Amino acid sequence: MIENRKEEHIRIAEQKEVTSGHNFWDDITLVHQAIPEVDFDNIDISTNLLGKRLQMPMIISSMTGGTQLARKINENLARAAEEFGIGMGVGSMRAAAEKKELSETFSVINSFNLPMKIANIGAPQLIDQDKKAYTMGQIEYIYNLIGATHLIVHFNFLQEMIQPEGDRNSRGVLKALKEIAGSYPVIAKETGNGFSREAALQLKDCGVKAIDVGGLGGTSFAAIEYYRAEKANDLEKMSSGKAFWNWGIPSPASIQYCQVGLPVIGSGGLRTGLDLAKAIAMGAAAGGFARNLLNDADMSSEQVEAKISQIRRDLKIAMFLTASGKLDGLPKARRIISEPLRSWMDLYGGTNGQL
Ligand SMILES: Cc1cc2nc3c(=O)[nH]c(=O)nc-3n(C[C@H](O)[C@H](O)[C@H](O)COP(=O)(O)O)c2cc1C
Repeated sequence: MIENRKEEHIRIAEQKEVTSGHNFWDDITLVHQAIPEVDFDNIDISTNLLGKRLQMPMIISSMTGGTQLARKINENLARAAEEFGIGMGVGSMRAAAEKKELSETFSVINSFNLPMKIANIGAPQLIDQDKKAYTMGQIEYIYNLIGATHLIVHFNFLQEMIQPEGDRNSRGVLKALKEIAGSYPVIAKETGNGFSREAALQLKDCGVKAIDVGGLGGTSFAAIEYYRAEKANDLEKMSSGKAFWNWGIPSPASIQYCQVGLPVIGSGGLRTGLDLAKAIAMGAAAGGFARNLLNDADMSSEQVEAKISQIRRDLKIAMFLTASGKLDGLPKARRIISEPLRSWMDLYGGTNGQL
């Protein structure tokens, strides 16, 4: 049952240690400028992303929907997103496409005035698996359900490999993606394992409008599925979950690899406004936060708002101390990149993170 799985994902992500072994944002140090010549109170963090005006360069990453718990979480996240003028994605909308009575657990966000509302479907479900692929009619239904401005197609093939009921085929996904990207403004997104340069070029070729890197360093879906397998006493899947716990491309490196002429959303392991500043320094147009907002969203919108307020403040402090009066100053800020991220930045004969 999709509903049970969604509830389990939330509870495991809230209660268990499901992050990758290393957070690669810690491998970046922005160099302090003691004489910034910037007025903190006039630092401008507003930005345009895919034709929408955001008051700060932040998206609440896709997480949930499909259960009453998810409804509350989506409502609290949306209230905070409205308050701060930021974008928000909902979780995979398969549940709404299959069971209309679950629709409201997603469409609850329609009570709020959000600059970006992002619908969500999984790439594996673009083609026939054990279940039939999404129809164009179903995609239209879920897109309109939340009055979406954009459609995320998420790539979660590692998770599919570890979860007991996972989809095993990926042949034909690009062709299907191309078709959908011809009708909707699609953002391609990973869910914790990042995109390589090769993948980014394939996505561009399909006509997606932006890439959300969803890289390694934060939530590990191999870890989440490990705990689900443990509960089901499935030793084989537990073993795979452990083996691939730290699989993927570090988020900051993936931002660099995905510089293919499309806007890039930096995500995967973002904790603070300083991490967000680093993501923008590496070339992201905005940053996406998921699990670090989850426990707050389960409590109240006030708690989410307090967290985002702190993120905003720390982003501005990082900008101030790197002499960046505007967001476009951050990519020019000097930085040190240490191992293991440093080696990743060299993979494509790279610029070591200095754009
Ligand atoms: C409980 C939970 C559920 C998630 N569900 C989805 C989903 O349905 N669709 C999706 O694209 N990403 C989903 N994600 C992935 C996040 O959007 C994000 O890419 C990933 O967690 C990495 O970001 P983080 O390290 O900030 O958590 C989910 C994450 C969590 C923690």
